Amino acid sequence: MEAPHNKSSFSFGTLEANTPLILEALDAWGIGSWIETVRRHHGGTYRHSLLVTGFAVAFAQKLKMRPKDQQRIAHAALLHDVGKSFIPIDILDKPGKLTDDEMELIRKHPRYGYDLLTQQGGFPVEILDCVLHHHELLDGSGYPDHLRAAQIADLVRIITIADIFSALVEDRPYRQSLPPMKAFGIMEDMGNKLDGDLLNAFRPVVEDTA
Ligand SMILES: [Fe+2]
Ligand SMILES: [Fe+2]
Repeated sequence: MEAPHNKSSFSFGTLEANTPLILEALDAWGIGSWIETVRRHHGGTYRHSLLVTGFAVAFAQKLKMRPKDQQRIAHAALLHDVGKSFIPIDILDKPGKLTDDEMELIRKHPRYGYDLLTQQGGFPVEILDCVLHHHELLDGSGYPDHLRAAQIADLVRIITIADIFSALVEDRPYRQSLPPMKAFGIMEDMGNKLDGDLLNAFRPVVEDTA
């Protein structure tokens, strides 16, 4: 029998090391005000966005990306779920199974976020791409545009991996958090939905948190 997951075993050391980069990102392009909008609407999405940012930046460092690209990753991760500010809290926090209508509404958050930031203007196209496409999967089964591998940029793939991992290790209203290696195993079982080479490169980030 597997031991119950002890939350205190989850190390945030890697994430804390990236805090200066995150704080810098909050000052850029009014990102801070959008993050504040998310925080006021739904604390869970706010905490999730910070967690995704920590994992995404740690991942970018493992990939030895240039500082400029690491910064871009941080901005994209902080903003990726800004569209959830338009989704009612009772749907975001619903403990049970979502109805088809509720699921359809949740699946609009990438488009809502993209439209919001496009209207503000000034955001690089790569970041808008991450906001709109972080739920796309390489086999075409994602949303909102059912893109396939060749249409999904590396930056988006990196955010997607950090996003799915974060969601699995977080407590959610409908399930408890999973231990990091178990979460990683679930992602490996996703097969051709995720970029296998990138997932392998993500393993050390997972091991650092376990
Ligand atoms: Fe999302
Ligand atoms: Fe997310």
